[in-house]
Parts: sequence; structure tokens; C-alpha cells
Amino acid sequence: MADHSAPGGIELLPVPGLPEFRPGDDLAAALADAAPWLRDGDVVVVTSKVVSKVEGRLVTVPTDPEERDAVRRRWVEAESVRVLARKSRTLITQNKLGIVQAASGVDASNVAGDEIALLPVDPDASAVALRADLLARLGVTVGVVVTDTMGRAWRVGQTDAAIGSAGLAVVHRYRGQVDGQGNELVVTEVAVADEIAAAADLVKGKLGATPVAVLRGLSIEDDGSTARDLTRPIEDDLFRLGTEEAIAQGRAEAVLVRRSVRAFTDEPVDPALLRRAVAAALTAPAPHHTRPVRFVHVRSRRAALLTAMRDRWEADLRADGWDDERIARRVKRGDLLHGATEVVLPFLVREGAHDYPDTRRASAEVTMFTVAGGAAVQGLLVALAAEGVASCWVSSTIFCADVVRRVLDLPDGWEPLGAVAVGHPVEPLVPRAPRDLDEGFLEL
Ligand SMILES: Cc1cc2nc3c(=O)[nH]c(=O)nc-3n(C[C@H](O)[C@H](O)[C@H](O)COP(=O)(O)O)c2cc1C
Repeated sequence: MADHSAPGGIELLPVPGLPEFRPGDDLAAALADAAPWLRDGDVVVVTSKVVSKVEGRLVTVPTDPEERDAVRRRWVEAESVRVLARKSRTLITQNKLGIVQAASGVDASNVAGDEIALLPVDPDASAVALRADLLARLGVTVGVVVTDTMGRAWRVGQTDAAIGSAGLAVVHRYRGQVDGQGNELVVTEVAVADEIAAAADLVKGKLGATPVAVLRGLSIEDDGSTARDLTRPIEDDLFRLGTEEAIAQGRAEAVLVRRSVRAFTDEPVDPALLRRAVAAALTAPAPHHTRPVRFVHVRSRRAALLTAMRDRWEADLRADGWDDERIARRVKRGDLLHGATEVVLPFLVREGAHDYPDTRRASAEVTMFTVAGGAAVQGLLVALAAEGVASCWVSSTIFCADVVRRVLDLPDGWEPLGAVAVGHPVEPLVPRAPRDLDEGFLEL
């Protein structure tokens, strides 16, 4: 099929005179009576509400508005498999059919005051059955579309969409075809069944009198597809969560996505990303309104620094009585900073710390600044992880502060708080489960 449109025009024919349907009624019989004029190639467009009614998908609810609302909410949850977004009292859910819409399609319009309607269990199957019944009763081969009304992201207002269909190609794919100007249509896929549903609504209306319309004049082709094929798999959906929900999830996972990663890919770390993460880390809380943390991005002096640090480490181990072979083995295991894509050194500068005459308060003041340094480093690790960049905080510089200051020409007051190895992880970072509180949390 080259084109999905009908250049000769289409007709939209309401089917008047249908009864008020109740569970167990024969929809096909009523339709055959009301529309004996159906022809091969017509598309019978049926509001899902009447399918729900004849299939007994009605639930009796209390007449009291509050109780009725509570029961309705329970059904919305029961019919949903996931909540994608909440807006005040409205839930946007994915229902068992995979359809994303408000309130799982649970609806109180056009039903008795003490009832709510659930969507048909399998609207594609309902469409197949109706199509077969109409062929049996009238000898016509029609397409059938079962519709429901849905809101749209980005657009005000609702339109009808196909939730069930039989006997027509639900999507017309133009991929690879060329338009009148010679442009190849790379992505255009027309959701024909949804367009039919929306067009039919123009003659069916929402007030219930005409739940069925017939679309005539479109060349439909049965490729075996069904309305379920119009449901985009949630994992392919760029908008699989509401904005608020996505932000909340990102916030909740920010701390949990950090972990110590000790091997990195060759992919460079974007300098702007590193600067952003440091800028975020520098917002960490600190005592007396001071800003006691400095981050040094070690670049040209990395090799000199790591060599000097290793020499000091080896000297320390030798002084501990270790032999050369054991030292070599131990030092090799500490190679992490060599393999890191970038190395960032956090330092503490105790400017603004108070002087106390007694050791108790003086030592408390030292602790206070030290913990502020830790807060900033954790901030850096979390900010990096939130952008998908891995890190490992290692202690080595703390053990050779004088060496670090000498190689990097830093003032005496700069106290190293370790080193942060930074790089892209081999496996993408995924949030881990929070820890059990166990002995880590007490309520006194
Ligand atoms: C101050 C500090 C020093 C650390 N030093 C080292 C280190 O020298 N080498 C290393 O591999 N990991 C080091 N780590 C990382 C810890 O081993 C790591 O945080 C711990 O195993 C928990 O793993 P996780 O960070 O993935 O949760 C250090 C962590 C901190 C906070």
C-alpha cells in the first residue's frame, strides 16, 4: 500500500437506533438490525463502553459520591500494572493491556449512577468476535475498531484511540517511501486505527446516543495487526514516567547510584561535567560559614605525584620490615590512580577554624572541619554518579601529605583528604538497594 489516505474522500456514518446495552446483550445482532446497509470494506467503530456493557464489565458502586470515588480508585489500582504519573487525584496508569491512560480506563460516564465501567478484558478479541458475527449475519467483511477516549501528552484535549481492532492494518508505515518533493520518509508511521477512532468520534459524540459509527471509503488491508500493536513497549518510551515522577526517582537514586568503581573505560571524562560535579560538591555544608574544601584536578603532574607517593609508601613498608617482593606485590595492588581517567584530589583548608585553649574543644574543631571535608567529597562522588560517571575515593594522599604538597607546590595548611579516581564505568551505574537500618539507625 503506497498511501494510507483516501483521495476520493471518506464517509462517516452514525449508526442510530441502537438500544441501551446491558450485560449479555448481543451487540452484533443489534448492529446487524441497525445497520443492514453495512458493506465490505467498511470499518465499524464501536465505543468500548458498549463492549464493556455487553461483556458484563460493569461494577456496582455505592451512590454516595465519596464511597463511590473510593471504590472507583480501588478499581483503577486493580486494573493497573504501573502508575506512571499522578496529577492531584488523577492517576496515569499502564493497564493490563499495556495501554497508558488516565485511571486505567475505569469510567463512570454513560453508565447508570450506581455503576462504573471497566475496559473490556481483551478488546482485540472483542473486535475479532464482532467482525466474525457481522460476517455471519450480514455476509460482509468489515474492519472493526473498538475505541476509548484518551488524553495526550503535550496536547490539550482528548481524542478517541483504538484499544481493539480486527481486519485492518493498524499502522501504515511509510519508512523508505519518497514524498512528492523526493524526500525519503524515514520515520513516518501513521496510526491509522487511531485516526479512524478519532474521526468516528466526530459523529458518535460523547453523550451516549450513538456509540457506533461506520467509516466508509478507506482502503483497509488486513495484515493481522491488532490495536495492541499500537501500544509502545514501555522500555522504548521516552516518556515512560511523568516529569515529577522521573525527577523524584532521580533524586531518590542519586545517592544509591554511587559506588566505588576501580576500573574505567577509555572514554574521556567531559571537563565541563567534572567542573559541574565539583561545583555541586562545593555546596557541601561547612562550619562557621567557611569554605574549607579545595579540589585539585591533577593533570600534567600526575605521573610525578604518583611516583613520589609510591616511593614514600615503599619506604613506609620497608620501615615496617617488609621485604622487597612483598612490597612490590602490595604496591601493585594500589595502582588504581594510574588507571583512572582523571584524578581529583580533595584538600581541607582550616581557614576560619576557631582556636580553643583546651584540647577537648580544639580536637572537636578539628573533627568538625574534617567531617565537612568528607561531606564535600561524597557530594562530588554523588554528583559524578548522577551523570553516569564512576569514581573511587582512595586514602593514599592522607598518608603522605607532605609529599603531595611538595610535588604540587601547595601551601602547608592544605591537608589532603585522599584522592578521587574518576572515569566512565565499564558497566553502567545502576542504583543499589538502600541498606537495612540494623545497627546503623537508632531511635532514642
Ligand atoms: C576515606 C576513604 C578512603 C578509602 N580508601 C580506599 C583505598 O585506598 N582503596 C580503595 O580501593 N578503596 C578505598 N575506599 C573505598 C572503600 O573501600 C569503599 O567505599 C567501600 O569498600 C564500600 O564500597 P562502595 O563505595 O562501593 O559502597 C575508601 C573510602 C573512603 C571513604
